[in-house]
Amino acid sequence: MKISVIGCGYLGAVHAAAMAKLGHDVVGIDVDSGKIARLSEGRPVFFEPGLAEVLISAIESGRLRFSTDIADAAGAQVHFIAVGTPQKRDSHAADLRYVDAAVQSLVPYLAEGDLVVGKSTVPVGTAARLAEMITASGSGASLAWNPEFLREGFAVKDTVSPDRLVYGVPAGDEGEHATALLNEVYASAIAAETPLVVTDYATAELVKVAANAFLATKISFINAMAEIAEVSGADVTQLADAIGFDNRIGRRFLNAGVGFGGGCLPKDIRAFTARAEELGRGESVAFLKEIDAINLRRRQRVVDLTVSSLGRPVHTAKVAVLGLSFKPHSDDVRDSPALDVAVQLRGLGAEVVATDPQAIENSRLRHPQLTYSTDLDETLRGADAVVLVTEWPEFRELDPVRVATLVRTPTIVDGRNTLDASAWRAAGWTYLGLGRP
Ligand code: UGA
Repeated sequence: MKISVIGCGYLGAVHAAAMAKLGHDVVGIDVDSGKIARLSEGRPVFFEPGLAEVLISAIESGRLRFSTDIADAAGAQVHFIAVGTPQKRDSHAADLRYVDAAVQSLVPYLAEGDLVVGKSTVPVGTAARLAEMITASGSGASLAWNPEFLREGFAVKDTVSPDRLVYGVPAGDEGEHATALLNEVYASAIAAETPLVVTDYATAELVKVAANAFLATKISFINAMAEIAEVSGADVTQLADAIGFDNRIGRRFLNAGVGFGGGCLPKDIRAFTARAEELGRGESVAFLKEIDAINLRRRQRVVDLTVSSLGRPVHTAKVAVLGLSFKPHSDDVRDSPALDVAVQLRGLGAEVVATDPQAIENSRLRHPQLTYSTDLDETLRGADAVVLVTEWPEFRELDPVRVATLVRTPTIVDGRNTLDASAWRAAGWTYLGLGRP
């Protein structure tokens, strides 16, 4: 099929590459000429395992190209809207200006029977409003909402083989036409019997935010248990294992630690709360404010634990911070708990040296005041405390015996509860986990 993807950020670049990998003829469009130039050379503007390879092979096959000109979307049957919906500067609500601009700029190039497909995460009610805009244009095109559930670090795999497909479509013939086109787009996933939910716009929009709200709630739930464990002497990791054996609960997303970050979970729960308030049902998701608060408290807890573990005033101490990205296998530092902890410790006067396999450049852009090192040993050398805040494999695999010879004081704060506490203690370390004795 001929496909256009409007917006080539994280979501759009991956989607465009994955659609071309599936055999479609794809043009990716973005207003950022620097981004388009890099993508055209097969160089992603962010770190995502496997993406460069898929981009290069799709470009070489002739099935994928990039452009800054929206007119190049003309002739495609399906147009994906994949622009960002960041948090507004002055409120918790989502900023829809990029979505609106994308649809407005696309409208003149739409033809009879074309399908515009929303992928961006939007407040419920947005699709209905955009559908009116498209209908009013008189092009004969229609709209579907098809939320994306990809995880950073697994983005290509999640897009090519999603665990479910959700289509929000209008009623009647228009809806059937939209479903048929989307089934053609996702033919390989449909053939693999991927669960499919065909529904209305509002449900499709809500599925996305409900999924992220649920995941955020699960993480904050276990982090709340960690807070109780901290005042009662219990071990939250064993608690998570024990409740996780109940299939109804499940062990995934029950890792207590410094909490969630990234470009999705934090802003999505805030936007959801703001939208519910607009709809007069703020109380229904008021608990998400508590989820947010628990999450942010965990960053503070890691900072407090580190400061109190130092055998000297914080402004005379060197702290080694391991990790800056919001999770491993990503260079994304948006709302990253790890970067936040580093910044807070620096703000308290500590000499902070931070390292990360991928996220130093992005961190430096936001926080040039921090000291960064690409050398793990240099980061650790002479430290009065080591703080692990992103569970990259290279940090998890550190040898406590060897690292003890580098630092000044063998104290480690495991902000992800990911290290073998007994092995670190046996090597002479003061090991401090979250929600663990
Ligand atoms: C999340 C969702 O998992 C995806 O399904 C969704 O498509 C995506 O947002 C999106 O809306 O685009 P992502 O932001 O890539 O994906 O990250 P997650 O893997 O969900 O992790 C989010 C944060 O939670 C990370 O900071 C991670 O360290 C933290 N986390 C995760 C925990 O603290 N504990 C856990 O047990 C699991």
